[in-house]
Amino acid sequence: METSAVVVMLCVSFVAVFGNVRKKDLNRGMNELSESDYLQELPPKAKTAEKIHRFFLGGCAASIHPLWYARDKSNTRKKRLVKSRNSYYDVAFLIDASGSIKEKDFYNGIKALNILITKAKISTKYAVITFSEKGDIKSFFMWPPSKIRAVLKTTEYQGFRTNTQDALRKCRQGLFMNSSSGARRGSYKRVLIVTDGRSNIKNELTLYRAAKLKNYHIEIFVLAVGKYIQGIDELAELATSKQWHLFRVETMEGLIEVVKMIPPNRIRTKVVIT
Ligand SMILES: *[C@@H]1O[C@H](CO)[C@@H](O)[C@H](O)[C@H]1NC(C)=O
Repeated sequence: METSAVVVMLCVSFVAVFGNVRKKDLNRGMNELSESDYLQELPPKAKTAEKIHRFFLGGCAASIHPLWYARDKSNTRKKRLVKSRNSYYDVAFLIDASGSIKEKDFYNGIKALNILITKAKISTKYAVITFSEKGDIKSFFMWPPSKIRAVLKTTEYQGFRTNTQDALRKCRQGLFMNSSSGARRGSYKRVLIVTDGRSNIKNELTLYRAAKLKNYHIEIFVLAVGKYIQGIDELAELATSKQWHLFRVETMEGLIEVVKMIPPNRIRTKVVIT
């Protein structure tokens, strides 16, 4: 046999053996920990803070935004930096005000969002929807952020069932698809859902409504709050991705600690308001 043939055979068997080992490892891992067990896992607070900072706030100049990266592989670090400086965000907060969340925790959640706003780019515009029996638009897109902080301070707890799909519908029709809602052309459009779990009014529509938003390149982020979350699979499906768009915290107090860990935004931006 020729040497080259031997080399080729060795290579092939090497790949076959190690390829299999890795696959086996993976399968074993999957058996030990099902997907939803994995989603229930609570990462350390600092890790969650970093994730929110990097992917939701897009605040870190060196961060590789997953969507840009996927779209444009020729992106250099410098190009990303410029893009990150010039980009601006329209963010809709969808806040669960249903009875499964305790009143005190609801207000702690509001407090956390108020802190989160102070860590984001000053050019960001925010809108607010709360949901329980139905979705309620509390505010259209507003600037400066201090205005939305005032809105959040007057946002009230409701304490009934969880109509997530209605909030998603109003978010699309009343906010992002509404030319007089204050949403800007060319902004990165994002939704942040703060919830403790599964929707229970017309919930067969929840993922459909979310998909409609995603069709318009609106990213959906989910802040899933609770030690063990009923319906975590639905939340994972709601989020644009499981890796970058789903954040887990154990309690609303914990969420306050997490957002406090996020470093302040230091990028100078050209403020774009139209
Ligand atoms: C669009 O936004 C305006 C606020 O500027 C609001 O009055 C109107 O009701 C919205 N339209 C829809 C369909 O929600």
